[in-house]
Amino acid sequence: MSNKGFTVWMTGLPSSGKSTLAGLLAAELQGRGLPVVNLDGDEVRMRLSKGLGFSKEDRDENIRRISYVARVASDMGGVAITSAISPYREIRDEARAEIAQFVEVFVSCPVEVCIQRDVKGLYKKALAGEIKGFTGIDDPYEEPLNPELVVHTDLESEQESIDNILGTLDRLGLLPKNETNSRATGASAVSDDEREQALTKLRGLGYVE
Ligand code: ADX
Repeated sequence: MSNKGFTVWMTGLPSSGKSTLAGLLAAELQGRGLPVVNLDGDEVRMRLSKGLGFSKEDRDENIRRISYVARVASDMGGVAITSAISPYREIRDEARAEIAQFVEVFVSCPVEVCIQRDVKGLYKKALAGEIKGFTGIDDPYEEPLNPELVVHTDLESEQESIDNILGTLDRLGLLPKNETNSRATGASAVSDDEREQALTKLRGLGYVE
């Protein structure tokens, strides 16, 4: 297992698919034996950021808290996955500057499609004027300029998006080498040289012929 921790920072409009992808990615990486903390946006708001609202100041404070926990987790060799809207570029870049291995994934989806999905029925309320300052309606969302990856949830299946994220993590050298393959095929995780050295030692001790 690699001991290089990292953070996958999902950002995107409400109902763009961040939490869904975060959950699937967390399960996939856990299945590969990695220690994962899934800092789901909604769960964070109920606990770590309880009491914060949706002014720019409060959103920035929310992101700073998430960023802090993600940094601690990835510094310890874990994987942190975040899925807050994180609408402001500057504060996302602050998180990027703090976290050694930061992988920004822009979960892109046209606002019209997000409105159709309206997972929590909040777009409807925002469009009716019942909620003020709703991201994508009357509050800004600043798209990342240089994310490590853009996934298009209106065009790709969930599995395609997950495969693209895994591909990016692999390209960045953040996934353990051949972990899945070696488990599936029963192949050894040690190199031939290491194996030969161990055998020489064991031979010397008389344990093997
Ligand atoms: S962030 O801006 O601080 O990153 P976060 O992801 O934690 O936002 O919270 C967004 C969730 O809060 C939305 O999915 C929605 O359920 C809820 N919410 C309530 N009011 C708002 C609002 N004004 N703008 C956006 N989301 C809101």
